[in-house]
Amino acid sequence: MLITKKIREFTGTYDDWYIAANVLAKQLELDNNKKQKEKDELEAFVRRFSANASKAKQATSRQRKLDKLELEDIKPSSRRDPSIVFKAKRQMGDEALELRNISHSYGDNEVLKDVTLKFEPGEKVALIGANGVGKSTLLKIMMEEMKPSEGELTWGATIENSYFPQDTADIIEGDGTLYDWLRAHDPKRDIAEIRNCLGRMLFNGEQQEKGVVSISGGEKHRMMLSKMMLEGGNFLVLDEPSNHLDLEAIVALGEGLLEFKGNVICVSHDRELLDAFASRIIELHADGSITDFKGSYEEYAELKSKQ
Ligand SMILES: Nc1ncnc2c1ncn2[C@@H]1O[C@H](COP(=O)(O)OP(=O)(O)OP(=O)(O)O)[C@@H](O)[C@H]1O
Ligand SMILES: [Mg+2]
Repeated sequence: MLITKKIREFTGTYDDWYIAANVLAKQLELDNNKKQKEKDELEAFVRRFSANASKAKQATSRQRKLDKLELEDIKPSSRRDPSIVFKAKRQMGDEALELRNISHSYGDNEVLKDVTLKFEPGEKVALIGANGVGKSTLLKIMMEEMKPSEGELTWGATIENSYFPQDTADIIEGDGTLYDWLRAHDPKRDIAEIRNCLGRMLFNGEQQEKGVVSISGGEKHRMMLSKMMLEGGNFLVLDEPSNHLDLEAIVALGEGLLEFKGNVICVSHDRELLDAFASRIIELHADGSITDFKGSYEEYAELKSKQ
């Protein structure tokens, strides 16, 4: 595991070490939750199909996989409240998002070529690809911030999306404090709830009174996540949210996305984050084509390493 290596190579004070160890415990717990989910699904499959002749082979192979799954021995009592919690206000129906034949060019630069994708309710997708291939363009088209050169898209009627753009600099601005900025998005919201969302992103009372103008890139990202928690959308669209975040916040974000009962599409280069939540990987390529892989990032990376 990558995180173990990071901690092994760690050269900090005892206090730093203690914090890092906590992050590791959290990561293990997260792995554990993922494995437990997989175990439950495998068990359900085996239960359902072991008596069914046409599915017997699949049931046996899943039973074998199940036998191999081991849960780390972590006591549930060690569980801390995650600091990033996304809760959808509205339950979604059976349609999430569909893109049909989307193409986009900036002048002569053809970035997306005939992209057709369907996202089912509850899917957690990692959108990956080299710098400049068009990931942000695709998200902006999804968010209807810009119109594609060709193609169309349909959001499910029950979807309330919530967007974390790649560039938070122009969005988080103004004369007010952090608290004012967040409150302005939802003036009717309970003060304690707003303070709680900022607190979860580790802004203490005094920092919440800081001016928005004075905050760093990392703090802007934490602010954006606070805003998303408050919004309570059922479909989260995130463009490189882990840039400028420290390891603890990335682990918390991975946990938040994994636990979230809704859809996620997240662009990131951070393996730790992608490993944590994604169950479908979409890679954009420089020629405008895509690879659509159903599985975890780890499985996708393994597959690619064999090619
Ligand atoms: N408004 C624009 N006008 C012209 N060209 C643009 C515009 N926005 C993006 N591009 C170009 O389109 C291509 C795709 O950009 P985009 O930002 O979508 O890629 P990305 O995959 O998000 O990149 P990164 O990993 O750097 O965030 C790039 O070549 C970029 O230079
Ligand atoms: Mg981008």
